[in-house]
Amino acid sequence: MQKIDWDNLGFDVRETRSMYKANCRIGEEWKLGGLIPYGTIELSPAAGVLNYGQGCFEGTKAYRTIKNQVVLFRPEMNAKRMAMSTRRLCIPEMNKEFFLQAVEETLIDNIDYVPPYGKGSLYIRPIVWGTSTALGVKPVEEYTFMVFVSPVGPYFKGGVKPLRLTVSNDYHRAAPKGIGNAKAIGNYSASLYPLTEAKNRDFDEVIFLNAKDEKFVEEVGSANLFVLTGNTIKTPKLDGSILPGITRDSVITLAKDTIGLEVLETNVTLTELYDADEVFCTGTAVVVTPVGSITGLDGKHKIADGKMGQLTSKLRQLLTGIQRGDVSDEFGWLYPIKE
Ligand SMILES: Cc1ncc(COP(=O)(O)O)c(C=O)c1O
Repeated sequence: MQKIDWDNLGFDVRETRSMYKANCRIGEEWKLGGLIPYGTIELSPAAGVLNYGQGCFEGTKAYRTIKNQVVLFRPEMNAKRMAMSTRRLCIPEMNKEFFLQAVEETLIDNIDYVPPYGKGSLYIRPIVWGTSTALGVKPVEEYTFMVFVSPVGPYFKGGVKPLRLTVSNDYHRAAPKGIGNAKAIGNYSASLYPLTEAKNRDFDEVIFLNAKDEKFVEEVGSANLFVLTGNTIKTPKLDGSILPGITRDSVITLAKDTIGLEVLETNVTLTELYDADEVFCTGTAVVVTPVGSITGLDGKHKIADGKMGQLTSKLRQLLTGIQRGDVSDEFGWLYPIKE
């Protein structure tokens, strides 16, 4: 185990021992690459990714369970999403076996960076981009896939507090029929300006509306949204411009099958959020985090009084409980790593 101040981990990049690297040319299959020492890489200034944003990534976490075993959480879902994102960005499609083998190899070599039980997790970032050059707009010939890891604590500073969100009225995150449902790097660059403006106004994150008519909420810049009214949970339906979150999928299953609530994947309006009993967001980084207030054009709407709602708290406990091995893994979501 590394000597790290595990109690004070934030959500930052920390250097670890090694990272994974593989290359592939258009028309070829991804073949196994290998580990290299963690460090910087060289790229041509004309690289496809630097000029035309041809890149996509994934995010998953490794946890240490109460029995001191290291596990991944549903990494096959990340593999599936990576296959979809690569296809959409004209990057050679990555298959599941290749993706999982690379993630596992990187994790095993850096296993001493996985925080102790209950002290955080090892964030794993698989990322792929167009490496060779392009001057005219086109998919480039050669691609690089890397996996790096970093031990992390909570995504938001100060732990789990209800978030102060603001509605983005001047900017959209993703267009209909665009790349919103892929984990494309360009989606994140589109969200940076509204996020920075929001942070300058003391908000934690931004809620994006659907670009077509701004009638419905889509998601937060780095997480999916849920709303509880009575015994019904709603979450925006996956209509092509929302990222299909793995935590979203897991929370839907837990709410339906474990807790017995009705869950609707449908259109969700801002008014429904304002009038809700509980609003929360979900993601690998944010886990399940309550929303405390939402500020729109008509002012601030308070949703929670400084503490987590009952359902939000229950779902967070169930999910983190499964990930840490405290709650039985009845859906077979854990992927144990042989050290
Ligand atoms: C835009 C966006 N929406 C939703 C999510 C949640 O996805 P997941 O639960 O797979 O982490 C993420 C990633 O964390 C994201 O970047």
